[in-house]
Amino acid sequence: MTSMLERIPSLFGAVLSLSALSAQASPDHPDQAAIASPHPIATAAGREILVDGGNAFDAAIAISATLAVVEPYGSGMGGGGFFLLRQAGEPVQYQFLDAREKAPLKSKLKMFYRHGVAQPDLSLNGPLAAAIPGLPAALVELAERYGRLPLSISMAPAIRIAYRGFKVDEVYRERASWRLFALRANKESARLFLRNNDVPDIGEIIKQPELAQTLDRLADKGRAGFYSGLTAQAMVSGVRAAGGIWNYHDFEEYEVITRTPLRFQLADQRELISAPPPSAGGIALAQSLFMLQQLPWRESEKVQRAHYVVEVLRRAFRDRVLFGDPDFVPNPIAQVLAPDYLFELTGSIDPHRATPNNILPPAPRWREGDNTSHFSVLDNEGNAVAATLSLNLPFGSTFTVPGTGVILNDEMDDFAVDPKGSNTYGLVGSQANIIEPGKRPLSSMSPSFIESPQAFTAFGTPGGSRIPSVVLLSMLQYLDDQPVTQWTSAPRYHHQYIPDVLEYEAGAFTEEELSDLRERGYRLRETKRDFGNQQVLLWRKNNAKVEAASDPRGIGLSATFRPDAPLNLVRTCTDQSCLP
Ligand code: GLY
Repeated sequence: MTSMLERIPSLFGAVLSLSALSAQASPDHPDQAAIASPHPIATAAGREILVDGGNAFDAAIAISATLAVVEPYGSGMGGGGFFLLRQAGEPVQYQFLDAREKAPLKSKLKMFYRHGVAQPDLSLNGPLAAAIPGLPAALVELAERYGRLPLSISMAPAIRIAYRGFKVDEVYRERASWRLFALRANKESARLFLRNNDVPDIGEIIKQPELAQTLDRLADKGRAGFYSGLTAQAMVSGVRAAGGIWNYHDFEEYEVITRTPLRFQLADQRELISAPPPSAGGIALAQSLFMLQQLPWRESEKVQRAHYVVEVLRRAFRDRVLFGDPDFVPNPIAQVLAPDYLFELTGSIDPHRATPNNILPPAPRWREGDNTSHFSVLDNEGNAVAATLSLNLPFGSTFTVPGTGVILNDEMDDFAVDPKGSNTYGLVGSQANIIEPGKRPLSSMSPSFIESPQAFTAFGTPGGSRIPSVVLLSMLQYLDDQPVTQWTSAPRYHHQYIPDVLEYEAGAFTEEELSDLRERGYRLRETKRDFGNQQVLLWRKNNAKVEAASDPRGIGLSATFRPDAPLNLVRTCTDQSCLP
């Protein structure tokens, strides 16, 4: 049965409030459930599963599997991701599921070099660029350890939509145009995702029957339905026939790892709960928030505030080279989060001038050894998931494994393919992140919560190296008491230490503000397109109310509702096109 939400036309960052029946307000118990996802069909799938008696973890499975169908450019069974979990209870527990892809066991340090030179095309396009997928294993883990429903129910919406098809939208067209040449180069991807070898028109139906069967095998057999049997055989033989290096052992040994999330105490009884390595994002957020707490950012005018934010980002990104897969290299988390070190970094910020990179205080002494997707879901018991999922570039490696409908990631490019060079995001390489067999590439993905006795909030976005900046700017909107719609819509800027450039979205600053920034010593660059697709939640514990917002830069849909209440649409968006 098609649900009501599935029939709602695409909305730019629309907000739907579904029913508002009163409930017992209680600090450990929101009065509604909430979902913010980057696609209306995925939001509908999550809602369907909550209404069917699932919890936030079952809904996360439904949303992830549906995004794999309707956002083939953003995430999928051929990719991986991170799931940050909040388990309601006394005490509340947080977990971090690391479903990051792993380098194939036959990987070699210089596998992307030809004639002594690193070849970016090889780590970005085609089967050699793909690391072993983790998302299918994460969905099994979520169902077996945290959910209430079998995968056959939580994955049913995704399987149905893969068979029936979904309509091409403006985001799909934009991402497909970006990767058109690479998509054309793979016959199977061109057949599935293009029309007459070109970007499909808005409203074209994309059906994926092979993917539906792959999802069905996973739903039916669990882990064995993907990592062995028919799917694994098709994956390994398809990749090898096209020149890749996968083998069955890669599939047998892939495991999701449950890690302790990064937890960092902030002012005002707030706590940041975020991604630990192999993401460098949570650490950058903790460092940035600590430094900003020492600075008068909140009472500063816009350019002065941007100056403080950029300078803390410069310092946090400088330390990124210290991190890598914790199963392979030691990560100096305690050292870079030590208050003395962070006070010293903060003290080096000139309130009026950009700091040249070469005069930053030294990093701790240490032996160096858009396109992605994000959603957030909260159920009305207080369980929550913030998940950032990825294939890396839009449509990943653009290599679809014949017979499976699964498009593979190009996450190998997140390694320091050339430790002295940089990757597709311009992030500098490091020894800690060199390619090693079975290793997870360093990530910037930062699904995060900030929780206090007063409120629970969830944040996250795609955006490659810009992810920590986008999440930080949203968190600052929250800390500045701005409405949730502002957390997702506020203009964005970014600095990642190298290149030493302040990037900003068109319209983020006026001409006058840009000249002020130039005078402070910044090199400025307007980005070709807006960046990020933030999906946020807020649960105010004093009155149990929840709010959600989807980034207006995308087509996402946020919804708040009582899963047990009759469907009662209360429209909060003003545009007539919101009408179902
Ligand atoms: N592939 C983008 C990231 O993991 O940061």
